[in-house]
Amino acid sequence: MKIGIFDSGYGGKLALQQCQKRIPQHEFIGFFDHKNAPYGDRSPEEIYKLTSHGVNNLFDQDCKLVLLACNTASARALRTMQEAEPDKKVLGCLIPAIEAALENQPKQKFEPPRRIGIIATRHTVDTRKYQREAFKIAPLAKVFPIATPKLVPWIEAGETNSKACQDYLKVHIQTLIDEHQIDTLILGCTHYSALKTIVKNLFPSLLIIDSAQAQAEKLVDYLARHPELQ
Ligand code: DGL
Repeated sequence: MKIGIFDSGYGGKLALQQCQKRIPQHEFIGFFDHKNAPYGDRSPEEIYKLTSHGVNNLFDQDCKLVLLACNTASARALRTMQEAEPDKKVLGCLIPAIEAALENQPKQKFEPPRRIGIIATRHTVDTRKYQREAFKIAPLAKVFPIATPKLVPWIEAGETNSKACQDYLKVHIQTLIDEHQIDTLILGCTHYSALKTIVKNLFPSLLIIDSAQAQAEKLVDYLARHPELQ
C-alpha cells in the first residue's frame, strides 16, 4: 500500500524513516515542502492552503492514507481537511505524541502524574490542541507548551550543532524545568527529532517523546486495526 507523508520540510524525512523502519512492506511517498518552510511563521490560511495542496498531491499519487507528519499542520489544518473531505484518510501527529506521553504515566497511584513540557512552533502552542487532547485522555495531566520558533530554520539549514542552536534549546528546556518542574518533554515538532540526541545528552533525566516516532508507532496499531485499507 502507498502511504503519503506530508511535512513542511526535514521533519517529514525523519518521520518517513521512522515509518519505513517499522513497516517496510509499505511504500512511503514524501511531500516535504522545503520551499515554503518554515510554516511556523505563516498565517493559518496559508498553512491550510499549503497543507491541502501537498496532501492532495499525495492522494493524486495513489496514496491510500496520508500522515501529516507536521504538528503545525496537524494543529492548524487537519480538522478542517477531515471535515471537508471525510473520505480521504489523513492522520495527524499531535494525538500520537500526547498518547505516548500519557501512556508512560507512573503505575503507582501514590505517584503524582507526569508534568509534560512541550517545545513546538508558535501555531502549535497557540491552538492549545495539545492541552485539549491531553485533557480528553487524562483530565489531571499537567501540560506546559512553550514556543521555540528559531529551531526549524536552524534544522532546515543543517545547523543543529551550532552553539546558538544548542544554547537556545538549553535555555527553553531549562525554563520548563525551573518554572514547571517537568519530567517529560514532547518534541512537538517533527523537525525536532533531529535534536533528540542533543536533548537527551543535555537533560538525561527527562523522558523524551519524539512526535515523529510516536506517529510511526501509532501507525502500526492503526494499520492492524484497519486491515480493509491493505
Ligand atoms: N515539522 C513541522 C512541525 O512539526 C515544522 C513546522 C514549520 O515548518 O515551522 O511543526
